[in-house]
Amino acid sequence: MVTVPNISDKNTISEQPTTERLTPEKLPQHVAIIMDGNGRWAQQRKLSRIEGHRAGAESVRVIVRACRRIGIPILTLYAFSKENWQRPSREVQALWRLLSNYLKSELDEMMEHSIRLNALGDITELPKAVYRLLQSTMDKTASNHEMILNLALSYSGRSEIVRATQKLAAACLTKELEPGDINEAIFSSYLFTANMPDPDLLIRTSGEQRISNFLLWQMAYTELYVSPVYWPEFREEQLMEALVDYQRRERRFGKTGEQKQKEV
Ligand code: IPE
Ligand code: IPE
Ligand code: MG
Repeated sequence: MVTVPNISDKNTISEQPTTERLTPEKLPQHVAIIMDGNGRWAQQRKLSRIEGHRAGAESVRVIVRACRRIGIPILTLYAFSKENWQRPSREVQALWRLLSNYLKSELDEMMEHSIRLNALGDITELPKAVYRLLQSTMDKTASNHEMILNLALSYSGRSEIVRATQKLAAACLTKELEPGDINEAIFSSYLFTANMPDPDLLIRTSGEQRISNFLLWQMAYTELYVSPVYWPEFREEQLMEALVDYQRRERRFGKTGEQKQKEV
């Protein structure tokens, strides 16, 4: 069970001058980010792709800290897709090294700021030592309740849906469930994001306009924001731009603008 932190009891929103442009009541409850462009950032500077990932890890630190301070209850970062296993093994290994370093260096901060780490994806596919470190970080942070940091690792939206379907089918075989009882809420509860609200906002960096197999089910009504900036350059200022843009939008969920106005 995942308890979704409630932003109403936060006293951090008004403390920082950078958050002045935001309306606290309209903050997204769940922000998802496709962190893209590390390789191109490095290439531009004649550095190795691995250097790009190292710089990208710094953006992760900055953005997690900023979201915590702003009061975003759930942040989901796409760190490694199932498709990314096809990359050169040197690059893949470097990514796991960077993840391990991140988990070790950020544990104190996660404890201090009550951030709960959670993984989405087939994490048993990760190298054993990384898997163990991830698991122990999740255990240590399990009762933190101010913010959830979801890391999507060896993640694929389609395989998440297939996995949920297999589990539902198994539950039907044992008569725990009747096929006719399956509804959207039950289906959602079989996903890695069980008990979490769907993302309100998806940010993708590096200008690419695609979903790349991320949170396919959960993204049904997510607002999309593409930043032209490569991930290593995506810092607090760019995050603020995305949040301000999000707050200007009218989310209609199929209704007319007029109907939504009346609800307010
Ligand atoms: C995102 O940057 C990081 C991962 C996918 C792990 P990329 O490595 O995809 O960078 P580009 O897209 O090649 O520039
Ligand atoms: C998506 O980025 C996956 C992550 C950010 C981890 P990619 O760089 O792998 O996406 P594509 O292949 O360009 O769509
Ligand atoms: Mg990419």
